[in-house]
Amino acid sequence: MPSREEISYFGAGPAPLPTPVIEQSAEALVNFENTGLGLSEISHRSPTANKVLADAKSALSTLYDIPLEGDDAYEILFMQGGGTGEFSASVQACVGWWVERRRRRAVAELGEGKDAEVVERVRKEIKEELKLDYLVTGSWSLKASQEAARLIGSNYVNVAVDARKSNNGKFGVIPAESEWNLSDSKKSAMSYWCDNETVDGVEFPKFPDCLKGRTEDDGVVVADMSSNFVSRKINVRDYGMIFGGAQKNLGIAGITVIIVRKSLLALTPAPTFLQQLSDVLPSAIPPVVFDFATIAKNNSLYNTLPIFNLYVATLVLQSLVSTFAEKKVGGQEELANRKASLIYEALDQYSDTYHVVPDKSIRSRMNICFRIKPKADSNAEPGKWDEAREKEFLASAEKKNLMGLKGHRSVGGMRASNYNAVSLTSAEKLVAHLVEFAATS
Ligand SMILES: Cc1ncc(COP(=O)(O)O)c(C=O)c1O
Repeated sequence: MPSREEISYFGAGPAPLPTPVIEQSAEALVNFENTGLGLSEISHRSPTANKVLADAKSALSTLYDIPLEGDDAYEILFMQGGGTGEFSASVQACVGWWVERRRRRAVAELGEGKDAEVVERVRKEIKEELKLDYLVTGSWSLKASQEAARLIGSNYVNVAVDARKSNNGKFGVIPAESEWNLSDSKKSAMSYWCDNETVDGVEFPKFPDCLKGRTEDDGVVVADMSSNFVSRKINVRDYGMIFGGAQKNLGIAGITVIIVRKSLLALTPAPTFLQQLSDVLPSAIPPVVFDFATIAKNNSLYNTLPIFNLYVATLVLQSLVSTFAEKKVGGQEELANRKASLIYEALDQYSDTYHVVPDKSIRSRMNICFRIKPKADSNAEPGKWDEAREKEFLASAEKKNLMGLKGHRSVGGMRASNYNAVSLTSAEKLVAHLVEFAATS
């Protein structure tokens, strides 16, 4: 039986976690801090559970410098439902916040007590103005935009950019911002993107310039960071909402984290108001477990939070805080960049053998997607990948305990996921395999 140290696992998620975290968690599952009970066996409302929650928030706010008090305060929420649950919930939340802003404006202009006129005014504005903007740069933002259309109707969804149109029908580029067709920010309820596209290996190199400086009156800036969470510095204040599933950089499947501007939660509309608009806005009311204002009001404990799963994430966050000290998440960013550079350098050096799928300018540091070319002396059609050679690559990698390198079933090829817990040693072993395979196969 191999030890954890002998295996290098590059799967895209669920993904490896630091061994000390797994060991401490395993102990906590059986007997948490010598209490004679495991952490999954106690109430999510107990002082112990509350401490785990407080520790998670404290470590995350330290790493990302999240303001928790004051005018620009943010809430950190832990919920269930995965990344998929959150991209659905973000639609309903942002539409609700937009509707409430419009309701307040209508009340201010029409006066109190004009309920029917207010509903009529907002209904008209929804039909004429409401838009949700999606930057579709890979499989996850595509799914999120499709979910928005399913929930509230495709007439409200504006795909501001579909990267496939600039790349022969495939993901792998991010068109220049000047080519994005964003709605008027006052009409937009949200501007959504997936910061790192796990399937396609595409990562936004930085926060989009055209979305900087958005105010309370503008569409909410929402980013899915499921697969690059706590892997680089961000300015939280640029975003209305950030979310991510835990099972890549943060912990194990079963919880998601949401960082949301507090002032937005105060804009959550009354369900009775939304019900009057159901003819133009079907499904605008979220299930209560996805209602961010309710979850925030109850300190993430509205219903049963899986505290063990949260504990694993807490240990991961605390270990980042203690490892990188004053560099905070910037320390992890340096390490992630170093590992990714080593792997990309090897792929580029042996470009007769390997082809990196996405464009160089937007290569993901987290999910490194590549194909293997046919040998120069083969009769293969130009532009085709050598799937037999790819199988050989994977099989020979597995013999060296380099696991989880197969690409997503929808795109094929190889994908080396370079998440936070993938060690520098594992990255170096992969580089050695890339070099050897190119030289000998
Ligand atoms: C970027 C991204 N968003 C969303 C999801 C969906 O997450 P979940 O399976 O937790 O719903 C994934 C899953 O891999 C992902 O990589």
